[in-house]
Amino acid sequence: MQTVKKDSLLKKYHLKDHLPKHVAIIMDGNGRWAQKRHLPRIAGHRAGALSIREIVRLAGELGIEALTLYAFSTENWKRPRQEVKLLMQLLKQYLRSEVKELLQNNVRLQTIGNRKDLPKEIQKELEASIRATAHCTGLTLVLALSYSGRADLTNAVKRIAEQVKAKKLDPKKITEETITKALSTGELPEVDYLIRTSGEMRLSNFLLWELAYSEIHITKTLWPDFRTQHFIEALRDFEGRQRRFGGVTNIIGSFTQWAR
Ligand code: FPP
Repeated sequence: MQTVKKDSLLKKYHLKDHLPKHVAIIMDGNGRWAQKRHLPRIAGHRAGALSIREIVRLAGELGIEALTLYAFSTENWKRPRQEVKLLMQLLKQYLRSEVKELLQNNVRLQTIGNRKDLPKEIQKELEASIRATAHCTGLTLVLALSYSGRADLTNAVKRIAEQVKAKKLDPKKITEETITKALSTGELPEVDYLIRTSGEMRLSNFLLWELAYSEIHITKTLWPDFRTQHFIEALRDFEGRQRRFGGVTNIIGSFTQWAR
């Protein structure tokens, strides 16, 4: 059933089924979206939550394995108290209203970041939603909440140091894989695509280790306007890329001809 839906979507949107496995999105531009409409910033965040709903559903239907959304950074705590409060309320509403939709779409919810920084009631709501969707086998939706890439790397280093101290790990045997696995994203597939909305060209302390070989797509579209057609355009852009991982592609043949 799921494959039939996927195939018809691939056909409908002219996609080749070389989709990324793990898409990460820096959802930016909610404030500017609201400002352009002379609305309070929270109206932009509310509209942004509707974009989340649409993109999550589509990513699941297309068979993408993981979608990580930068929903709240550690730096975001510096925003005006009222905005932080309203963002937390919105997150609570989202969790309450969306669990049913996540279950219907076979989406498993997870979080990265310091959940303990969040208000207790949000923590409880998150735990309940994570538990309720734990058995889902489709898309893994990861909300980055009170997240900082540097803090996550620091925690990974601490975890590894503890293992060394306990003589469970020989420092000579530490590899890139050891670090990848010690991060909060350790169990997820490699992030192969980063999308950032609103045109800013920054990483903003997001997935610093994980993005090493990711393709990047930056669009001027503001997050609340980022809907199905924009996601499809971004996926088509990914399918057109030649991923080289620092090596070379498709020129081996011509090189040997030239060397002869
Ligand atoms: C950036 O826009 C966006 C955020 C700080 C958070 C993203 C939050 C949402 C999409 C709201 C709903 C989230 C959930 C999980 C329900 P900005 O305010 O920095 O925009 P600006 O740069 O135009 O001011």
